[in-house]
Amino acid sequence: MARRWAELTLQIQPLFPLALGRVQLGPDPLKTAVMMQEVLALPGGASSNPDPGCAWTGDLNGVWQVHRQASFQWLRRQVEAQAWDYLEALGFELNQVDLFIQRAWPVVSGLGMVVGRHHHPNAHLSAVFYLNGDGTGRGGCLRLFATRQVNELVPGLGVGHGGPIAPEHPLNLPWLDVPPEAGLLVLFPACTDHAVTENQDGENVRLSISFDLYLSACRSRGPDGSLAEYLAPHPDHWTPVSPRPS
Ligand SMILES: [Fe+2]
Repeated sequence: MARRWAELTLQIQPLFPLALGRVQLGPDPLKTAVMMQEVLALPGGASSNPDPGCAWTGDLNGVWQVHRQASFQWLRRQVEAQAWDYLEALGFELNQVDLFIQRAWPVVSGLGMVVGRHHHPNAHLSAVFYLNGDGTGRGGCLRLFATRQVNELVPGLGVGHGGPIAPEHPLNLPWLDVPPEAGLLVLFPACTDHAVTENQDGENVRLSISFDLYLSACRSRGPDGSLAEYLAPHPDHWTPVSPRPS
């Protein structure tokens, strides 16, 4: 039987970590109840997205600006503050960038529903807030996928049947599951592939709010100033292209 890697004389240094930000927020029960009530009412008669088995997501159903609604202002302020903290933790110089909420939408996942693997190429930073969840993952976990499993050495080996890599080895994980908890906010790079696993909780509909955040150069970096090479100028300095002449 293989020895645990942590017990070997050989030291393994995990490199290039994916930064998952987590913070447990504490909204009062009234704020939570109002947000839950509004989110539950949004799908109307619809229950999926629209494929049966896929959770209802507001971004595909015309509900992607909930951060502008009165009931969600507490959450908006929390996401903004935590997004700045996340950037600071990653080493960003905060006075050189501006942050925008592009979209914010609810996700309603009933019994047996999932959200398939995807990422958000229109955004830079993703945030998800959980309105409910008991930390067991029964209602469906947020599944974050590794960009590439370089430690499997032989490409594809980790998905093989019966080894030879020990299952769920910490240096060869294809994904990490985050079980929702009421009040939990998570942040991660928007380019990260993610999914929501099946809701197996027959008693509770899984409720969350997703945010797409966009990073630009700060507004004071105008047309006469220098810019970081790959950071988009502030949108105030963009020039719309005229419609094509007919
Ligand atoms: Fe997503």
